[in-house]
Amino acid sequence: MAIVVIRQDDRIDLWKNALQNADTSVKVYSYLEEHPKEEISMAVIWKHPKGSLADYPNLKCIASAGAGVDYIFEDDTRPKNIPITRIVDPYLASDMSEHVLAVILAHLKNLNIYKLDQVSHVWEPKQYMRIKDVTIGILGLGELGALTASDLSSFNFNVQGWSRSKKDIEGVQTFAGAEEQKEFLNATNILVCLLPLTPATEGILNKELLSQLPKNAFVINVARGGHMVDDDLIALLDSGHLSGACLDVYHTEPLPKSHPFWNHKKVHMTPHYASVSDTNSVIPQIIENYKRLSSGEKLQNLVDSDKGY
Ligand code: GLV
Repeated sequence: MAIVVIRQDDRIDLWKNALQNADTSVKVYSYLEEHPKEEISMAVIWKHPKGSLADYPNLKCIASAGAGVDYIFEDDTRPKNIPITRIVDPYLASDMSEHVLAVILAHLKNLNIYKLDQVSHVWEPKQYMRIKDVTIGILGLGELGALTASDLSSFNFNVQGWSRSKKDIEGVQTFAGAEEQKEFLNATNILVCLLPLTPATEGILNKELLSQLPKNAFVINVARGGHMVDDDLIALLDSGHLSGACLDVYHTEPLPKSHPFWNHKKVHMTPHYASVSDTNSVIPQIIENYKRLSSGEKLQNLVDSDKGY
């Protein structure tokens, strides 16, 4: 039994070494080095090259190195009948919550507009908003969405949340299902998307949904680029229905240089870095699952393949 790490970014050696150092009795390989493919029982992956998982005849578990698993389901050549696990980690949730809080406060106080004004040497004081003036709506109340909602509520924001099935979160008014979505959207001034990306949520941030937000609403997408219909967002920003958007995720990452978001004054971009798995914090749960796999115990943080998250 052994682990292979498959990812195409510059963190592959960091992950390989962190897994190796966490348990020196486990054999860990990078997919880029010579390695015995028939020995591999667990693949620890992040945005792997499509097709690469089919190389391992004895694979018993696919472990996503992040909270999201949408990119695994997009690979039709993946082995279909083995468990998929994902990361559930307090830092992944609290980093996201802190990011969303920072974006919301920057929006209330016009900080991004002032940065643009500074570049053009413009002195133009603007009306700011207060926490009590806005209602935050969180789309998706999983691990990250639920913590973000309750943290914002503890800062005295009016917070409401929408999810597929009803959730109870102290201090947060919750809505569920298609029939309660309109009421939720109509009262949301700042919409935060923290949904998993599945066939049911792909393109959910479209003209029809975003038009149900009140005029001057602000949109934050920290989930996946696939949730957003980019042209619909731009049309609603340009028509003045939406006052702005802060995006961390895109259909193609890095975002192609020719994409209109780059030069749009109402779009504030960050490079998919709102919340990133911290190896020190998340490696123990992967090693624990590797041990459980060896002893035939039930794995932690299993993904429901029917739901896709
Ligand atoms: C980041 O996007 C993650 O899914 O962990």
